[in-house]
Amino acid sequence: MPRTSHDLFTIILHWLTALLVPFAYVVVQVMEDVPRGAFKNQLYGTHLTVGTLVLLVTIVRLGWKPFAPKVAPNDSPALMERAAKLVHWLLFLGLLAVPLLGLFSVWFRGRPLELFGLFSLPSPFAADRPLARNLTEAHELLANSLMILAVLHAAAALFHQYAMQDGLILRMLPGRRDKGTP
Ligand code: HEM
Repeated sequence: MPRTSHDLFTIILHWLTALLVPFAYVVVQVMEDVPRGAFKNQLYGTHLTVGTLVLLVTIVRLGWKPFAPKVAPNDSPALMERAAKLVHWLLFLGLLAVPLLGLFSVWFRGRPLELFGLFSLPSPFAADRPLARNLTEAHELLANSLMILAVLHAAAALFHQYAMQDGLILRMLPGRRDKGTP
């Protein structure tokens, strides 16, 4: 019998993503308004580190997905269920594409990827400034699209929970008891 809520590992990775993505986004918005200097560099380093964490968490999440206990579909109309699935896959696509574009834009600028202020991964590519500029533009465009999609996704989850009162958000919270499941 399929469960009615996600497993704890999926739940932890989901909420970690929900914290890291807006954090990376806000840090870079603040960075744009800060004059050149140590604080700006610190914000830049934080953005790169948090973005890399988003990529790692997403890879772990997608690797875990085929093994995660199956969850029964929510009792939503079929069209809504399909739209939700489509949005989930678009979110996963964005969660991979946005940090990867950011990473390649740094490397094609000829810079190393500095992580956690502790170590750096040198660029395996020769510098290519025009390509780096295009990658940065694609990174920004997709990051904005990912944020819009994430806000729509969160709004839909809240609509389910409070307007339709179908308990959808409980599927992504720990502690829900699943009868008949290990
Ligand atoms: C307040 C913010 C958020 C709320 C309330 C929320 C709520 C939920 C809920 C209830 C589900 C489970 C749906 C189901 O089981 O049918 C879900 C799944 C999902 N959420 Fe969120 N979410 C939020 C933020 C985010 C963010 C920021 C992202 C990524 C940018 C995200 C990505 C996903 C993905 C990819 C799934 C599908 C999981 C899977 O199929 O394994 N969520 N979310």
